[in-house]
Amino acid sequence: MPTFSICLLFTFNFIIFSNFCNTAYGIFCEETTEAITIKRVEKTSHLHFYFHDVISGKQPSVVKIAGPPNSTGYGFGATMIMDDALTEGPEISSKLVGRAQGMYAIAAQEELSLLMVMNFAFIEGTYNGSSISILGRNPVLNDIREMPIVGGGGVFRLARGYALADTIRLDYKTGDATVEYHVYVSHY
Ligand SMILES: *[C@@H]1O[C@H](CO)[C@@H](O)[C@H](O)[C@H]1NC(C)=O
Ligand SMILES: *[C@@H]1O[C@H](CO)[C@@H](O)[C@H](O)[C@H]1NC(C)=O
Repeated sequence: MPTFSICLLFTFNFIIFSNFCNTAYGIFCEETTEAITIKRVEKTSHLHFYFHDVISGKQPSVVKIAGPPNSTGYGFGATMIMDDALTEGPEISSKLVGRAQGMYAIAAQEELSLLMVMNFAFIEGTYNGSSISILGRNPVLNDIREMPIVGGGGVFRLARGYALADTIRLDYKTGDATVEYHVYVSHY
């Protein structure tokens, strides 16, 4: 008789747990969600576009917001905000695929190197409304600079990866630049 009672008790408990899962008290449901997430496959996308940093003219896409009154040789401390066009081709008139919004600062005293803090906000195709966040070091006179992708939104949730930047055009008088970007981003 005692054995039979224990068995009934277990059955009862099991039913209660099942009900918990179907109702608002969902600690067991959360575990199920986690298990599904783990099964999702990570993919890597390669994005290719051109970045236009326009400092000169009537409608610059970069503005200086801060800096020391008398800066040293490389402009140490100068800080800029940008809303730069990202285009499909190397010409600024080519198809707009997104914008690079964020800031950069001259963060080195012995060379020309920038701290980049920016989001690539895309407006094209499956990436429309999605973004990638970049935080990195950009020694702009080097051939290819690598910057880490630290996150993203939309299709780029939980993103990580890297961006490779290559300046293909630089006007030494104005500072206007066109930079080719290859972005390798892993996401779900
Ligand atoms: C900046 O330079 C100006 C002119 O050369 C000078 O008068 C001023 O004292 C300097 N300011 C600082 C903070 O060094
Ligand atoms: C991108 O999404 C916005 C907002 O949903 C929409 O207005 C726009 O037409 C879309 N652009 C493209 C190229 O699909």
